[in-house]
Amino acid sequence: MQTQGITTLALSAFASDVRAGLDRDGQKELLSKYLYDDVGSALFEVICALPEYGLTRADTRLLRRHAPDIVDLLASPVIVAELGSGSARKTRWILEALCRRQPTSYFPVEISSAALARCRQELAHLECLSIVGFAREYVDGLLEVSARRRPGERLLVLFLGSTIGNFDRAPGENFLREVRRILDPGDALLLGTDLEKSIPQQIHAYDDPLGVTAAFNLNLLARINRELEADFVLGLFRHVAIYNLAERRIEMHLRSTEDHVVTIPGAALTVRFRKGETIWTESSHKFAPGEVAAIATRTGFRCDAQWIDQEWPFAESLLIAE
Ligand code: AVI
Repeated sequence: MQTQGITTLALSAFASDVRAGLDRDGQKELLSKYLYDDVGSALFEVICALPEYGLTRADTRLLRRHAPDIVDLLASPVIVAELGSGSARKTRWILEALCRRQPTSYFPVEISSAALARCRQELAHLECLSIVGFAREYVDGLLEVSARRRPGERLLVLFLGSTIGNFDRAPGENFLREVRRILDPGDALLLGTDLEKSIPQQIHAYDDPLGVTAAFNLNLLARINRELEADFVLGLFRHVAIYNLAERRIEMHLRSTEDHVVTIPGAALTVRFRKGETIWTESSHKFAPGEVAAIATRTGFRCDAQWIDQEWPFAESLLIAE
């Protein structure tokens, strides 16, 4: 099909996802994975340091305190794959505990190659660690890691930071089933999940007074301008964080402040925005502590252990493939 001089078939995955999400009458959407280009990944690192966003500090505290207990529960020898490693700052605690036991192979899977480079720097001090990064989508990367394992090696998959919360609940469980299919019985998945807390606390975490989360969200439009030659005027959109009580999730949106039209030549698209309408850019689901064990059972794992942070409700759960 030929549209405005561009063959739809030739569109990049980014362009066709942008087109599919914005070329519709109902709720417009952009996939949250596109928040993480190099600028977005750097802004996310800043979000993790914000006082209002306790999630990363809770995740890090749990890993720092309990890495030896977690490693004690793993069979040996074990290789480690991390889905969405980011800079791997918090992963070092697990890797250090493993390195005290054995030379360790670590395979970060991360769509941002800038984040993969930061990950190497962060872990450079660990001499007994070999690092092979994959700039891939999670499942493709994990398949590559699994193909490299030697007979008798167990696989530990790290899925930290409550990234599972960025999936809708049913697709999130389907994703865990897909991960399980790549694993062998006895392999492990360490899953981080952000737990429910007061609504104002959750909203502040996603709408900070410095405006870093707003910049992270708006960067998605800036990215479309950069990569698809669009003409979004960022000043015509406002960052909004909403707590959806029924779904137990924070939603990030970008609200248009005026009726206006945007052209996106790289996606062969012209989009009309009405004043007040939003583009939904991310969902961040929150969990009850007992929910993770039930999810594990439904997806082919059993939950062998769980650690919960006392300052910021967050759980680290060790799931074993059945
Ligand atoms: C990566 N992910 C778990 C973060 C979250 O909390 O959902 C992304 C994020 N979005 C806004 N702030 C942080």
